Amino acid sequence: MTQITLIPGDGIGPEITEAVKTIFAAANVPVTWEEENAGQTTYTLNGQLIPVSLIASLNKNRIALKGPITTPVGTGFKSINVTLRQMFDLYQNVRPAKSTVGIETPFKHVDLVLFRENTEGLYSGLEFYDERHGIADAIARVTKEGCDKICRAAFEYARKHNRKKVTVVHKANILKLAGSLFINAAKTIAPEYPEITLDDKIIDNMCMQLVNKPEQFDVMVTTNLFGDILSDLCAGLVGGLGVVAGANIGKDMAIFEAVHGSAPDIAGKGIANPTALLRSAVMMLHHIGEHEHADRIEAAMDETFQNREECTGDLGGKASTMEFAQNVISRLK
Ligand code: NAI
Ligand code: MG
Repeated sequence: MTQITLIPGDGIGPEITEAVKTIFAAANVPVTWEEENAGQTTYTLNGQLIPVSLIASLNKNRIALKGPITTPVGTGFKSINVTLRQMFDLYQNVRPAKSTVGIETPFKHVDLVLFRENTEGLYSGLEFYDERHGIADAIARVTKEGCDKICRAAFEYARKHNRKKVTVVHKANILKLAGSLFINAAKTIAPEYPEITLDDKIIDNMCMQLVNKPEQFDVMVTTNLFGDILSDLCAGLVGGLGVVAGANIGKDMAIFEAVHGSAPDIAGKGIANPTALLRSAVMMLHHIGEHEHADRIEAAMDETFQNREECTGDLGGKASTMEFAQNVISRLK
């Protein structure tokens, strides 16, 4: 049994979490959950956005599954997601985006995995405001070590999963120093992976190419801001934020998460799509070596998507969150 820290989150978080727990229990997945929340819910309860008991649980278990979190606006608090990533040096944000039969999109054969540097760049938290002159600086700090680590992670993933190409996405034509540091890190590492082709694209061109012909790309690696934007763009190619998985991975800790928000507009109605969290949970199972359980749940999910009416409303179906979960369970082989 592996113990996992489970962060239900806010809004629809508890509903989609319940669906995942139900499916895992029905599939006899050998994990136990240690529930520790964060965000608006805990803030209202005891004034803590990231409770110390959650930090302790993460430090102990080193693996977590996280629902969406609302960072209360106007409280002056930094994003909880960014805080957790930096606190535990979860330097890789891994976002797969793959076409699914049954989920309608303009593309049929998209199969992308984006590696986004997750702790530095424009999100380093280095912002300064010179009130007298009305000047705000946001520093995009990039380190050689940070570039090396994320580029290596992308190549290692490509090797392990038999992928053929890694595309580095950058803006080195304008960002002469920071951009070059990133692309040079990839170029230095690439010869160690002779079976993988290294390609590079400038971010703006990359956006155009992705929405035009996404099938030409495979694994991609980029800095924090570009990765934030590109990862949502890639989600849009395969059905949106409600159906894609995400992971924040560090040296010895990983937090798997639904990448969408807490969806306050539909919270409490029992109609949210649990797919994003379930796919993140499947990714988590692969991460801890439970490949058979992961494949079994994924196969049942993929079959369910082929029956539109059995999916949730956002995918054109009629099922509630828990009905979708039951539909997946009924297809477990
Ligand atoms: P959102 O993703 O919560 O909602 C955008 C739209 O997508 C809404 O119409 C919502 O109903 C729909 N949607 C989202 N997830 C869905 C699901 N699983 N099933 C069906 N429909 C779904 O984005 P929004 O409204 O910008 O943010 C709401 C809150 O979530 C904010 O407080 C924001 O800070 C937080 N947030 C948290 C994230 C995280 O914890 N990873 C990521 C993004 C936003
Ligand atoms: Mg984002």
